[in-house]
Parts: sequence; structure tokens; C-alpha cells
Amino acid sequence: MKVLKLFLLAFVLFFSSLARADEGMWLPLLLEKLNEQQMKSLGMKISAKDIYSVNNGSLKDAIVSFGGFCTGEVISSKGLVLTNHHCGFDAIQNHSTLDNNYIRDGFWARNYAEEIPNQGLFVTFIARIEDVSKLVLNGVTSGMAEKDRQALIEKNMGLVKNAAKRETYQDAFIRGFFEGNQYYMFVTETYNDVRLVGAPPSSIGNFGKDTDNWMWPRHTGDFSLFRIYAGKDNKPAAYSTENVPFVPKKSLSISLDGTAKGDFTMIFGFPGRTTEYLPAAAVKQIVEVNDPTKIAIRDKALAVIDGFMRNDEQIKIQYAAKYASIANAWKKWQGEVLGLNRTDGVGKKKKYEEEFNRRVLASAQLKQQYGTVLGDLEKAYAELYPYGIARDIYGEIIPKIELFTVIQQLKQLKAAQNQGEAAFQTQLPKTKERLREFYKEYDSRVDVKLFEALMPIYIGQDSAYSAPSVRQKSAGYAGDYARWAQELYKTTVLADENKVLEALDKDPAGLLNALANDPAVALQTELAQNYSAKVLPRLTEIQARINALQRTYMQAQMDVMTEKKFYPDANSTLRVTYGTVKGYEARDAVTYDIHTYLDGVMEKYVPGDYEFDVPAKLRELYQKKDYGQYGAAGKMPVCFIAANHTTGGNSGSPALDAYGNLVGLNFDRVWEGTMSDINYDPSICRNIMVDIRYVLFIIDKYAGAGHLVKEMKLVHPKKKK
Ligand code: ARG
Ligand code: GLU
Repeated sequence: MKVLKLFLLAFVLFFSSLARADEGMWLPLLLEKLNEQQMKSLGMKISAKDIYSVNNGSLKDAIVSFGGFCTGEVISSKGLVLTNHHCGFDAIQNHSTLDNNYIRDGFWARNYAEEIPNQGLFVTFIARIEDVSKLVLNGVTSGMAEKDRQALIEKNMGLVKNAAKRETYQDAFIRGFFEGNQYYMFVTETYNDVRLVGAPPSSIGNFGKDTDNWMWPRHTGDFSLFRIYAGKDNKPAAYSTENVPFVPKKSLSISLDGTAKGDFTMIFGFPGRTTEYLPAAAVKQIVEVNDPTKIAIRDKALAVIDGFMRNDEQIKIQYAAKYASIANAWKKWQGEVLGLNRTDGVGKKKKYEEEFNRRVLASAQLKQQYGTVLGDLEKAYAELYPYGIARDIYGEIIPKIELFTVIQQLKQLKAAQNQGEAAFQTQLPKTKERLREFYKEYDSRVDVKLFEALMPIYIGQDSAYSAPSVRQKSAGYAGDYARWAQELYKTTVLADENKVLEALDKDPAGLLNALANDPAVALQTELAQNYSAKVLPRLTEIQARINALQRTYMQAQMDVMTEKKFYPDANSTLRVTYGTVKGYEARDAVTYDIHTYLDGVMEKYVPGDYEFDVPAKLRELYQKKDYGQYGAAGKMPVCFIAANHTTGGNSGSPALDAYGNLVGLNFDRVWEGTMSDINYDPSICRNIMVDIRYVLFIIDKYAGAGHLVKEMKLVHPKKKK
């Protein structure tokens, strides 16, 4: 019986590791050791060295971190960079005016001279990656206090960075991996002159908007084009009209042959953050309380904002970006809860922990090292529970009531004033500028309703964590939050933007003096002080303990579950993830196919709609089936899905075929699979990409910017004899 059980277990473990072939965000310098074999068995035709090599040009030399928040790739020998529309959106928005509305109409530079500079935008290449764990952890012992450990590590990192061999135009940074068990150094090259080259209209680049976001089937042409400029020596240089298009070490070839079911694909980019190694106890909290708390608060906020946006054209423009960003995470968390529940994420973690414990207890040495780690983690997470909820409530509500944001800005100015006249005069223009920008996307009629909708949640929480004085104030209104809100916004001097901006111009000192007697300031102060006194200290203390335990648990898993290949959690560093083009079963009797086509865009078309309008030119091309060299069997492919393990930050990442040719542009994941940040499940986790042929079709046929396509290298790997 026992033997049979063990056999079954080995069987299950073996097959689950096979099925999980698609999981993992791997460090490029370790591919040869850890992944090359499996990548080849999945169909890859190139070698790990073609992907990452320090001295010879490799694919990594075509990949950039785009502005630190997305990924981009170089697709021509003249420094042309491809990324998502939603990654380039800030730049597109900044250059848009009522007369030149690039958001609505798109933008296409006809030559270098028309390409638009973007202050503050940069791209970063990774020149090389080094394992510096030994040097950084030098002198660190297991008995060390956390604080001392941290101090020593910082000191070591400084030494390592200073000693690193690098050119004057290169930089370096070091990051912790596997919860601080390992450290890697990244030597980087950053270019600060990045110009906007092209963007489709939002009706293509953000087709389907919030309704389609995180969803499959998808029909969005989520791309934009930029160009890197360098000094005459091809090295990084500050913006100058003298700068010239950058000549890259490597640019991606583009395949016109598309992908078919089962084809190998890999995604190369900068995934932001995942937490794959949490214990069941932590995942349970996320599913049962943290995500639901945040979702419930955003439900209320979105309903308020949506109500105004539907009835007021001005508010619709002002709040569009805010709404999209609140809705993006809100929708993701819902998918996450759904996916974790459907695949029994907590149950799977529990089974894994049972096996972990069984092995630990079977060895005297492991038992001594790791016998208590899971129990300690469970205890710590139980302690965290109420503080985590209080953190979520405060962290979600306070920034959404933007009257509080104004107050925080003015308090900062007040603090500068307290430091003396010089500090005040430096801060004043900054505060003015920030508030002026802020008010462009603010309407106090919306804000007062947000206060009314969200304060009941704050008051309704466990009273151990809310401010007694604020509860008292609320009790005075006997549940009439509307009246409370109206009175507060009427009596404060800070709700009216014109008054605040005028006061800042004419009598800033007077405005700051008035803060002392302002009821909204008093309220914000009570909320903040209560949080700092009753939540933050314990939260910080427990979280620090959890971090140390997670580090031990991570090392423990690597020591105990030795048949498993471990990849580090995403931390905004360069990674490769790979898998195959694959559909999935979303729910009972609902199976999703891998490709969408322009026909699907037309099916969704709603004339004049805010989300589903289709530009006339695109409808015309569809009617004539005028797809040029980009169509396939008379149809125009638009998006496709595959089982690559991606997360936020992978937006704009290239999807590469077996030869390393560009076949797609990553921009999203499917809703049911967004729990891949916490517990990847190969049955429903899929990433969503725009088919590169759709990108080229839009550039060439829709926008008439064929000169850009001429810069690129187009190939036909499947037609090779
Ligand atoms: N969900 C994707 C991401 O997390 C796309 C967001 C942009 N698109 C949108 N419709 N809001 O960034
Ligand atoms: N849209 C996400 C981003 O901007 C990528 C999608 C995901 O989270 O996988 O990074």
C-alpha cells in the first residue's frame, strides 16, 4: 500500500512537472544550463547562446526596458522600437491637442524630422548579467539580526557595483532574487533621446477598451513605434537636434508566416512582480479577503466615476485615464480570484506543503533547518490578517478621495515653509505645477460622491483599526454620508480648484495658515495619524518577519523539492519565458481558439461607440480584403494566444518564433489565468499577443507608412526549403 502511494506520488509529481513546461520566467544567462534542452524539445531551432551572449550579438541586444514600466524591441537597423499603444500612451497623450488629436486620429511621422522627442522617456539595454551572490552575501550569517544583515548587504552591493568593470556610458544595479538568497548584477546602457514615430488611433490601438481588457477573444492593435537617437558616436546622449538614429548591435527579423497551434514561442522582456512561492495560508488570505476587499472598494469608486462619465463629456475626458487604471487592476483581481478558486490554488499549495513537510521530517538535518518554517509562516500570516485588511482599506480609499491628495500636497509645502524661506520658495512652484496638472483631471462634483461612497467602508471596518474621532464625526451624521460629504466640501477651502490655485498665486502663506482650521485637513490628519499609530508599526514588524521567513522557505523549497526547477519571482529584470501556441477551456463547454481575425473586429463594430468604433479606412480595407502581403488565406489575423508565463511589465515584449523571429507583440493575459502571478496553472494561463502581421498591415495599408516597413527585415521561415 505504502509503496503504491509513493509510486503514485512520484507519478503525479513527474507528470505535473511535465505539464508545467510553460511555467517560469527564466534568467537569460541560465537558459543554457536550465532550459535549453526543454526549449529545443518544444521546437526551438536556435541555441541559448543566440538568445543571450555577452560578447557576441544575441537577441537580448534587441530588447529594451521601455521607460522602466514596459518592454520594447528594436526592429530596424535604424533604431526603430516597437512597444504597446498603452505603453506609449503617455507620450501620445502629451503631444495631443484638440487640433492634433493623436489619441483619436493616430500619428505617423513621414520622416526623421517629424519624429517627436519625449522628455523623460528612456530605454535601457542590458549589456550583461552577473551572478554576484557570493560577493553580496559575504559575511552574512544565519544568526544575524535582519537589520545587520540588510546593512551588510547594502555595503557589499556598493563595493561590488564600484568594482564592476564598465564603460563610462554604462550603469549597473544589483537586485535580490529568490527572496534575497541570490543576487545578480545588471550592467545597463540607457538612451534618453527616444522619439515618437507612429501610433494608430485609439479605435485600433485600444479597441474594446475596458470591456475587452483582460479578455479573450481580443481584437486590439495595441502597438506604437518609437526611435532611439544617439550621439554621433552611437553612444547615449541627452536630447539634441544633432543626434542621429541609433544603430543597434541587433535588430529583430520579422516573420510573415504567422503561428500555428503547437508552435514554439518565447517572450523576452521585463516582467514586474510575481509571488509564486507563498504558502497556502497567504494565498488563502489573498483569495478570501485581500482581493475581495480591494475589488469591493473599486466597485464603488468605478460606479461613481462611470455615472459621471456617461453624462458629462468633459468629465469623460478628465477621468478616462484614471478610470482605466482603477478598472485594470479591479478586473485583474476578479480574474485572479476566479482562477485560484477554479483550479483550487490553495488546495494545491496545501498538498505541496504536505509533501514538503513529509520530506523535511524524514531527515534529521532538514528537520532541524526547516522543521518550523511553514508553521512560523502560518502564524505570521494569521497575525498579519487584520492588519492586511486595514492596509488594503486605507491604501485603496485614501488615494481615491482626491481632496486628501490636495491636502497632502499642501502639507508638503507647509513642511518646506517650516524649514525656512529658501525651502519654501523652491517648493512653491513645484506644488503649484503639480496641483495645476492634478486639477486638469479633477472635478469636485465627482470627488464629493467618492467621499460619500467610500467613507462608509472605512467606518464599517473593524473599529480596532479605524480612527475613533472619525467614527464619532460619522455618528453625528447618523449614516447620512451624503450630508456629511456635502457639508465637508462646502466648508473646506480646498475643494474648489480655482480658489486653491488663486490663493497659491496671491497669498500662499495665508492659504497655509488657513489649513490649521480647515475641517478637511483635520479629518485627513486624524485618518493618517490613526493609521500611523494603529496599523503601520505592527504591519511593518510582521511583514519584516514574513520576509525573513519567506527567504528561509524559498531556500528550503530549493533544498527539499530537488526534482523541481526553480525560477525567481519577477522583479522587473530581464527574463525569458517560453511555451507553445495553445487554446484553452475557459469554462464548462467553452473552448477558446488561438487566433482572432479582422472579421471579429467587424463583428464587434458599433458605429460611434466609445469602445467599439472602427475607423472608416479600416472598414474599407476589410471590405476590399486589401491585406497585401500580410493576410493569410484571405483573412487578416489580429491577435493570438499562447502558454507563455507573463505578467505586468511584459507589455510590449516581443513574441519570438522557433528561430527568434518576431511573430507577435505581447500586451495582455486571459482573464481566467491572471492568477499566474500567484499560482501558474497550465490549463488556463495564456498570454495575449497582437499578430505582427496586423501591426505591419496597420502601418503599411492603413496608415500609408510603408517607408517604416522598408526599414525592417521581413522573413519567411516556414517557406524555407
Ligand atoms: N490589461 C493590460 C495590462 O495590464 C492592458 C491594459 C491597457 N488596456 C486597457 N484597455 N486598459 O496592462
Ligand atoms: N498589460 C500588462 C502590462 O502592461 C501585461 C499583461 C499582463 O499583466 O500580463 O504590462
